Amino acid sequence: MPSSPADQTLAAQVVNSMERMSGRFPGYRRSSARGAGFRATFTPTGDAAALTTAAHLQTRPVPATVRFSNSEGNPHTPDTAPVTRGMATRFHLHDGSDTDLIALTVPRFVASTPREFLELTEALRPDPVSHQPDPAQVVAFVQAHPHLAEAVAQQPPIPVSYASAAYWAIHAFIWVDAVGARQAVRYRWEPVAGRVELSADEAATRTAHYLTDELHERLEQAPVAFNLRIQLAEPDDPTHDPSTVWPDHRKEINAGRLEINAPADDQDLWNTQAFNPTRVTAGIQLSDDPVLAFRAHAYAESHLRRSHNQ
Ligand code: HEM
Repeated sequence: MPSSPADQTLAAQVVNSMERMSGRFPGYRRSSARGAGFRATFTPTGDAAALTTAAHLQTRPVPATVRFSNSEGNPHTPDTAPVTRGMATRFHLHDGSDTDLIALTVPRFVASTPREFLELTEALRPDPVSHQPDPAQVVAFVQAHPHLAEAVAQQPPIPVSYASAAYWAIHAFIWVDAVGARQAVRYRWEPVAGRVELSADEAATRTAHYLTDELHERLEQAPVAFNLRIQLAEPDDPTHDPSTVWPDHRKEINAGRLEINAPADDQDLWNTQAFNPTRVTAGIQLSDDPVLAFRAHAYAESHLRRSHNQ
């Protein structure tokens, strides 16, 4: 995606602000700093093929790599913290190209625009004395942006396992079929193991890296699976605002099943890779969501810094 000087400036400002919020950890992603990669296969059901020409959503299985992560920019944040978790999936298409799908354990994003996200990260900057964010700053942010109240108030689950949480890709994307007809969609990974969460008391008994350790142990027994659920927009459903959701009763289809089999062979490689939510493929287009387009620039900035061990 072409990057204008204005995009790059805002991306640098946002990444600077994320560093002030979470701390700066050279070599790590500025968000979702601690994670692990896994090998997987995605098998499409064929139910999406009438709506998109995307190669991985037809009938032929494709290999995939999945990175699960703790969403904090501080790699020392324990898994017991009540934070969001990430699931970044790269589908390796048969023509040698890749397409990414990046998702979190909440359905709404905390900002409708990149500027709002910048303001929120500023509001969450820790006080130099208490090392905690000032709750009054967050209240002031929400008062200034009342449409974000619901998104900011979301409580992410503390899952029993990375395999027992649902993950939303949040933004709308546009599917394009063989004759050029367009359909707005939203993606959700639904765990075949069901959604199972821990109470705060139960979480307190777990170790700092329990989610990664548990997934390794689980995979020694059996693969872990997710269904790719697709919510289909109706014509007037807005596509530009990632802090909102479409009504629950919108039609859904099951586009396929992801089976995760084992840890990725080369963890160092997956630590240095960069996922990109705008890396779509023919048959999928970006929606008019400004946060979606902006993420490409912020991720590139984070990747550049960590590639130089900054
Ligand atoms: C203004 C909006 C956002 C900004 C500025 C932002 C920023 C970032 C940055 C800087 C990274 C690290 C990139 C790297 O070094 O490779 C990252 C990773 C990540 N973000 Fe975001 N993000 C935004 C919105 C979102 C949304 C809406 C989602 C979920 C749909 C999301 C999910 C993730 C996940 C799962 C990762 C880890 C990817 C991996 O495993 O490599 N982010 N984000």
